[in-house]
Amino acid sequence: MSKQLTIGLFGFGCVGQGLYDVLTNSVQFKADFKKICIKHPEKKRTLPGDLFTANKWELLNDEEIDTIVELIDDSNEAYEIIVTALRRKKNVVTANKKVLAEHLEELLLLQKENNVSLIYEAAVCGGIPIIRTLEEYYDNESLQSVSGIFNGSSNFILSKIFRENLSYDDALKQAQELGFAETDPTLDVEGFDPKFKLTILALHAFGVVLNPEQVFNSGINHISDTEKKLYKDTGIAIKLNPVLKKVNDTELTAFVLPQLIDPSHKLYEVNNEYNAVIVEGVFSNEQLFIGKGAGGHPTGSAVLSDISALSYDYKYSYKKYSSSTQLRHNNQIEIPLYFSGDTESLADIFEEKQITETETGGIVLAKKTIDWLIVLKDRLSKNKLFVAQIHEDASSGIKKWKKQFENAVITAS
Ligand code: HSE
Repeated sequence: MSKQLTIGLFGFGCVGQGLYDVLTNSVQFKADFKKICIKHPEKKRTLPGDLFTANKWELLNDEEIDTIVELIDDSNEAYEIIVTALRRKKNVVTANKKVLAEHLEELLLLQKENNVSLIYEAAVCGGIPIIRTLEEYYDNESLQSVSGIFNGSSNFILSKIFRENLSYDDALKQAQELGFAETDPTLDVEGFDPKFKLTILALHAFGVVLNPEQVFNSGINHISDTEKKLYKDTGIAIKLNPVLKKVNDTELTAFVLPQLIDPSHKLYEVNNEYNAVIVEGVFSNEQLFIGKGAGGHPTGSAVLSDISALSYDYKYSYKKYSSSTQLRHNNQIEIPLYFSGDTESLADIFEEKQITETETGGIVLAKKTIDWLIVLKDRLSKNKLFVAQIHEDASSGIKKWKKQFENAVITAS
């Protein structure tokens, strides 16, 4: 039987307002916010003024409030709120992927010590119910990989650049105006946000706590006319693609990189703010989940589902984490990569004979390890090089295009 929750809500921005809209339209589920804590009390709100406070302790000290819903932007403050609430034996719903990814082990422990529940479906891929799916549905099947598109803003920007010929800056501006991007959009476009989400999924898919600092991430911020021309000439598009993949029985690799894909790829038609998760099970093979990954209403809907789950005392069981010997994180995996930029910047990293000059810049194709990318990360970024993985099971489209580079292809030494 579900129980009545007394909720303290932190944040009434895009997602908080979205949650409120979803909740007021829910026929079955009713939840009441006792208090809403906001940063700017002077702003006009859609709800009665006495519901709001700028003092977090009015919520955290209130013993009647048994559930904290944390939807604020400042991750340091969010961390303090989550930790304090758990210590005060309140259940917590959060959408804050950075806090979760950076403090997973501590948050697991706090839940156990205080016998409370922290749930966070809205932190990963907005409206796609992926965490509980990995946790409950795939609780016993051995998984091989989890990958996809986990950042709505980057996918929106890429779709606008390629399909509508918008400039990068205009597309980013639109993503910000629509409330998809983080306050600091470098988290989106440089691949940090999908890395945090990948770290959270590693726990629920493989029972592994990864250190996000050891997971390589590169994003779409150095995309150039070379990639636009590539799309125009060949149809090869780019998606920002986080990957978790078992390498063998004891090791897992994890990274975030853009990927060159052709129209035969499952993610090719996943556009705008849509996200996708490809789950590959040893026996179930590939499953594809698609849904809106950003925006107030899809994310608010995931938060509502978490609140509803708390009303019947739901907790993640973390079965895979408790039962498995932890898989080791391996960055020595060699992957086929595409590098583009101006030829001088490429020559700073590669030998000149390896660079293929095109009308719009230079291109190098090379097989390198993730460790190689980690070592050269600052130089690649300083040289504004765009780096992408090349879809390995490439259909003829990518194979045909790659042929022109045959003499330039080098392998890791
Ligand atoms: N900035 C994030 C995105 C919001 O674009 O996906 C949802 O987590």
